[in-house]
Amino acid sequence: MSDTHIHRTKPEWKENALIDAQTYEAWYQESVENPDAFWGQHGQRIDWFKPFTKVKNTSFDGNVSIKWFEDGELNVSYNCLDRHLEKRGDQVAILWEGDNPAEDRKITYRELHAEVCKLANVLKSRGVKKGDRVTIYMPMIPEAVAAMLACTRIGAVHSVVFGGFSPDSLAGRIIDCKSDFIITADQGLRGGRAVPLKENADKAIAIAEKAGAKVKNVLVVKRTGGEISWADGRDLWYHDEMAGASAECEPERMNAEDPLFILYTSGSTGSPKGVLHTTGGYLVFASMTHQYVFDYHDGDIYWCTADVGWVTGHSYIVYGPLANGATSLVFEGVPNYPDSSRFWQIIDKHQVNIFYTAPTAIRALMGAGDEYVTKSSRKSLRLLGSVGEPINPEAWEWYYRVVGEERCAIVDTWWQTETGGILITPLPGAIDLKPGSATKPFFGVKPQLVDGEGSVIEGAGSGNLCIIDSWPGQMRTVYGDHDRFVQTYFSTYKGKYFTGDGCRRDEDGYYWITGRVDDVLNVSGHRMGTAEVESALVSHPKVSEAAVVGYPHDVKGQGIYCYVTLMAGEAPSEELKKELVAHVRKEIGPIAAPDKIQFAPGLPKTRSGKIMRRILRKIAEDNYTALGDTSTLADPAVVNDLVENRQNRR
Ligand code: WT7
Repeated sequence: MSDTHIHRTKPEWKENALIDAQTYEAWYQESVENPDAFWGQHGQRIDWFKPFTKVKNTSFDGNVSIKWFEDGELNVSYNCLDRHLEKRGDQVAILWEGDNPAEDRKITYRELHAEVCKLANVLKSRGVKKGDRVTIYMPMIPEAVAAMLACTRIGAVHSVVFGGFSPDSLAGRIIDCKSDFIITADQGLRGGRAVPLKENADKAIAIAEKAGAKVKNVLVVKRTGGEISWADGRDLWYHDEMAGASAECEPERMNAEDPLFILYTSGSTGSPKGVLHTTGGYLVFASMTHQYVFDYHDGDIYWCTADVGWVTGHSYIVYGPLANGATSLVFEGVPNYPDSSRFWQIIDKHQVNIFYTAPTAIRALMGAGDEYVTKSSRKSLRLLGSVGEPINPEAWEWYYRVVGEERCAIVDTWWQTETGGILITPLPGAIDLKPGSATKPFFGVKPQLVDGEGSVIEGAGSGNLCIIDSWPGQMRTVYGDHDRFVQTYFSTYKGKYFTGDGCRRDEDGYYWITGRVDDVLNVSGHRMGTAEVESALVSHPKVSEAAVVGYPHDVKGQGIYCYVTLMAGEAPSEELKKELVAHVRKEIGPIAAPDKIQFAPGLPKTRSGKIMRRILRKIAEDNYTALGDTSTLADPAVVNDLVENRQNRR
């Protein structure tokens, strides 16, 4: 990589930075050579009711066992709230900006503490106990944050389900973790449109109860006042329950390895997995990465545009920032409502210093035109972040030049739901930037590239990205299915955590994530299993078989391309395509809506019946002249039809 593509650390970035280049090198060496000493020291950044005496006890071999700070005791809500009250009780904790630009709220640490304690008491009074799973299906309102923290206060395990998921998807998650308490809102509000959360929750509960689940209570925040149905005895209004609740609630003493939350995520096969994170290590890692990656200083206004339904919202809207006593901006709306200048207007309105968003949003806003950006000031901005998918250098440069006016460093942060926090990233005062590269490993992270046979690639080269030793924020298991955890992440390459991503390491030791190498799609930064979309398609009565692949999409990163074989006697039509798109939206949620559907009389299969996705991907990419070896196909003729009727012609 030539020097012209390097953005050297600017003197202004170094000036006040928490970590400089020498410190990065020194700490990194220490962290990988002596993890017990390193994490023993940094584990002190949070408050422990009972200090830990053991630091790291982890093994990626055999049955895989991951324990950090295992004899320590703490409470997450205490760390995010109580311990700040003395110094910053009146500082804003949650700076809420509504979907409607005229609506906002400022909630101080003291106020959030009171809200969380009350809600914790409400949960207790309704029988929610330590270890119980609470499902949170909420819009981006302060009560969503309060709900998460209230669970942690009493040791309940939350499972936040993104508000864009369908009743079916919500039901699956309720069933899987046997959750009998749901917190939701009457409706959400996004881009001026109402999202029927309570209605979806009602449908989900009906589906779940048919499958034998039992939901005891649904706690409902009144957000819009829209019409909803009500199940007496089961449904409870948030404001009614809170009215009589005490604002004092002792935080539960939790063991470091007690479960903190479950978050469902898609893999290459099967239904979404319940990624389980635990208490101590997760909080140490979320707060430490938040501080150093975003070079967070006391008093900074920090904004991460993610939704709390994703891990980014967990670690970098709620737990990391609040553990650090930050002011965290929570935005209810979308980037292009009322128009494409919304992000930049919010930055000016609230004087945001640190801004963290996704490449898909950057590309969409880049497409809307510079004038939406340049009519705002953005003088408050000091640092920009990116997460969710590889950021193409063009989008990176635009973000750097137009949004940040070449004044702000960009941290391209690579991580996963499973990793709990950021693993590969620049530190803005320490690491020179290369557009499109997530750069270097964070403290304690040991990446390794391996080829298809499992041989380690040294120096510059490309391969599959593994992490060969544990870090405190790592997931501990798949909820209720430890075998699946071991199988999914530790069986491809024995003794290594396999990320599912492909990666290149350049001659400077910089990491360039190239995207998933498994059957997982990344659509607008949302992770989706091709198998999930396929099973949604085949659940339609007219579909006999389906194969789904990703293809390059200018804004979404990847689009969803579906090959569909119809039942005998069913005729392909544009109408039916629309019906299938609607069907997938209904089954999974709008984020899974297919971009292209191609009716295929047959799918390319090997003689043993395995679908050759390699070929389907090529055709979806409109790269059909390089299909490679098709000699193992059972019926090579199907390929001609697929190519002839391809839907993505460039
Ligand atoms: C997958 C994880 C945890 C953040 C939100 C997504 C892709 C994430 C980057 C990045 C290239 C990235 C990877 C990863 N990804 N960040 N900076 N550069 N790729 O979490 O839903 O668990 O998805 O997102 O493919 O495996 P997730």
